[in-house]
Amino acid sequence: LFAGQSEFLKGVVAMAGLPPADRLEVCFAGRSNVGKSTLINALTGTKALARASNTPGRTQEINYFTQGPDLYLVDLPGYGYANAPLDKVQKWQRLLKQYLSGRPTLRRAFVLIDARHGIKPVDEEILKLLDTSAVTFQAVLTKADKVKGKEMDKMLAQVRGALSKHPAAYPEIVLTSSEKGEGIGTLRAIIAG
Ligand code: GTP
Ligand code: MG
Repeated sequence: LFAGQSEFLKGVVAMAGLPPADRLEVCFAGRSNVGKSTLINALTGTKALARASNTPGRTQEINYFTQGPDLYLVDLPGYGYANAPLDKVQKWQRLLKQYLSGRPTLRRAFVLIDARHGIKPVDEEILKLLDTSAVTFQAVLTKADKVKGKEMDKMLAQVRGALSKHPAAYPEIVLTSSEKGEGIGTLRAIIAG
């Protein structure tokens, strides 16, 4: 599983363009620039399968990647601030919400949270949507390499507290650094399970 098992399938701009719901999928959601695309590259052991950049609003379509024959990995556009025209941003935000609430084969949403910033009001909005859509989600802290032990403990407490209010939240929080490879094996095992 994972290494050499992923290929780009397609970028989707409307619900009608989603591939047939013929297998399970997991998606990566989170604020713009949190590290979704970078995490997919780390998971799949590739440098540039998903396009990442330092500009918030890099991913503007729902990008499907195969992961072996039985699973899709789905890279989502970010929410919150994006460096892109407003009409474009509104269009992909609408699509993002439709996708998160209306994809029957979505097995789990990984909601990425920047370990320096924690859960923000825009994240809460998405977590509520996942609750009402009964989509199990799991919090993944990103950029752990940027945060020291003590601050990380505080951050974990904040995130744990916030998650406890969400019925669709999976209680385990995954700590990751795509830069250092931290937590990547753990996340692979979760996805493979
Ligand atoms: P959008 O597509 O714009 O929503 O962003 P995204 O969530 O896909 O973020 P992306 O993967 O493009 O990464 C944004 C920036 O964060 C890039 O400059 C990455 O190099 C950086 N980044 C991602 N993961 C890590 C990490 O674990 N550690 C550090 N230090 N930087 C990271
Ligand atoms: Mg991206």
